[in-house]
Amino acid sequence: FESGSLTGARVVITAGPTREAIDPVRYISNHSSGKMGYALAEAARDAGAQVTLISGPVNLPAPERVQVIDVVSARDMLEASLARMGHCDIFIASAAVADYRPLSPEAQKIKKSGETVELTLIKNPDVVATIAAHEQRPFTVGFAAETQDVDSYARGKLVAKKLDMIVANDVSRNDIGFNSDMNAVSVFWNENQQSFAPRSKTGLAIELIELIAHRYQHYNDN
Ligand code: PMT
Repeated sequence: FESGSLTGARVVITAGPTREAIDPVRYISNHSSGKMGYALAEAARDAGAQVTLISGPVNLPAPERVQVIDVVSARDMLEASLARMGHCDIFIASAAVADYRPLSPEAQKIKKSGETVELTLIKNPDVVATIAAHEQRPFTVGFAAETQDVDSYARGKLVAKKLDMIVANDVSRNDIGFNSDMNAVSVFWNENQQSFAPRSKTGLAIELIELIAHRYQHYNDN
């Protein structure tokens, strides 16, 4: 297929937050709205890809002609992602996955009693690193949400998670990143970098998909 086009490619995108149960009525989560991931799904679809969106709980309508798989927790997201592995050429992890979950969620609502309450958390599996470590791995693109030293932490995650590319954003700002309609990112791969100044998530998604398609084609040619 042509440069910049994803015709025939099977693309799996994770989006939104995860929720990690504390008890039947409470959970740990984050501020992800899903906007970035849903915009990427639409852009990949418009570039000709067959798109599956594995989505945490968000308030966005399902994009047309995109298969949406709804999940709640990080472990659900991993299971759904692994189930797609045989049918995936490009995996894009834009979801804000909880790094930790309550070790033993209570079966009944925790009653108000003492002044303090302790919660023990345990590490969640890393979805994108698990996919990237797979024997027949897809071309794997991660995101990095940072509040400081954005570029160096992002490069660290590119290497540590064995990703093909990483898209870094500063989530300490409220004009971009979480929940905003705008984002600004730097993309890293090998020794290269490309930065995108603030713009709409829909516009940014089109440019990111073009860049990813370009790198993916290069990866297939080698
Ligand atoms: O949803 P929006 O409101 O539009 O906001 C978009 C966004 C800020 C959520 C998005 O642009 C973004 O940065 N997504 C990644 C959020 C994140 O969890 O970043 P991280 O640096 O903690 O994780 C690094 C990478 O590992 C990410 O690709 C993440 O999906 C993945 N990860 C992290 C932990 C985990 N247990 N499993 C994972 O797969």
